Amino acid sequence: MSDLLDIAVVVPVFNERDNVATLIAKLDQALAGYVWEAIFVDDDSPDGTADVARELGRIDRRVRVIQRIGRRGLSSACIEGMCATAAPVVAVIDGDLQHDETVLPKMLAAFAEDPTLDVVVGSRFVAGGGLGDWDSDRVAKSAFATKLSRRVLAQDLSDPMSGFFAIRADRLRAIVPKLSGIGFKILLDIMTASPEPLRFRELPYVFRLREAGESKLDHVVAMEYLIALYDRMFGKVVPVRFAMFSAIGALGAAVHLGTVWLAFQAVGLGFITATVLATLVAMTFNFFLNNALTYRDRRLTGAKALLSGWVSFCLVCSVGGAANVGVASFLHEMRDGGWAASSLAGILVAAVWNFALSSRFTWGRYK
Ligand code: GDD
Ligand code: MN
Repeated sequence: MSDLLDIAVVVPVFNERDNVATLIAKLDQALAGYVWEAIFVDDDSPDGTADVARELGRIDRRVRVIQRIGRRGLSSACIEGMCATAAPVVAVIDGDLQHDETVLPKMLAAFAEDPTLDVVVGSRFVAGGGLGDWDSDRVAKSAFATKLSRRVLAQDLSDPMSGFFAIRADRLRAIVPKLSGIGFKILLDIMTASPEPLRFRELPYVFRLREAGESKLDHVVAMEYLIALYDRMFGKVVPVRFAMFSAIGALGAAVHLGTVWLAFQAVGLGFITATVLATLVAMTFNFFLNNALTYRDRRLTGAKALLSGWVSFCLVCSVGGAANVGVASFLHEMRDGGWAASSLAGILVAAVWNFALSSRFTWGRYK
């Protein structure tokens, strides 16, 4: 046995304070005989996960911590962790003890045995693997997502949604510039980003029960998965953020119309008052939706950040609205453009303006 670093185990964590020490103890057992380090990538968890990990890191220098401020996202956390090591092999494992760490030495053995192997995937869907005690709803959702992902992935991975795998670090580093980093399906991202198909092997594991803390992968995250797929398929044509921003803008227009109808027709306010009100309602609606979805990874939280974000968003959109009117009326009046084409051009200019400036000023800073 040499004393060269064999493997880095990257552990994305968010509010996993009570699981950190146990995981380290389990890694210590599972990886006996190997030289390893664990890199906890924490997105500034309110429960102080990073502090707990740092305390353990003072005692045990194999334990390292990356604390990201003002960013969220499982995939991007994994990517940053994987790039922060000198180890020739990097593994990713959940920080909530649901993955089976005893598979890690088998992954290392697989790499040692087959030098052409790029990735070893922990799979719930090969013989010997399993879902533990997932409820039928979750099994169905997971099966649906797996089926969808096979459409973008040419290769026949049984568990492309797995968050438990190991990859040779040099292969990974070559692929990183091509990763989208969106959402939580880091393995799928890696497998689809690689220009030539990665050689993989699957090893079974049984998904365990979570004992402490709670799952972060809610419905919005499920939507992030669709977004990541979109990005892989059409992202080069229309960037995913702009597509979302525009879709939400279209919803905002509907909200605007609805509010005008309600205030003007139903309540009987003046048309201008109703329009001003509708504009505010629609901008507020768009602000919160974009904050929750388009800019989920940089979302503003807390009353102060939300208020100043809302103000800057309204300012940006007001200028965008003025530009819309300007462009549309210029085309219509001066260039004899048809009304629909002129309106659409106005909307497009405003959408690009609103998107570019709000991404810079409303969601552009860290914290
Ligand atoms: N840094 C960081 N940032 N970590 C995060 C974030 C985030 O935004 N969201 C979740 N995590 C961490 C959690 O703390 C946990 O350690 C791990 O990522 C997985 O999150 P869970 O919320 O426990 O996921 P799950 O159990 O519902 O989902 C599992 O099943 C999927 C299979 O379809 C995970 O194992 C996934 O990795 C897996 O792909
Ligand atoms: Mn989990």
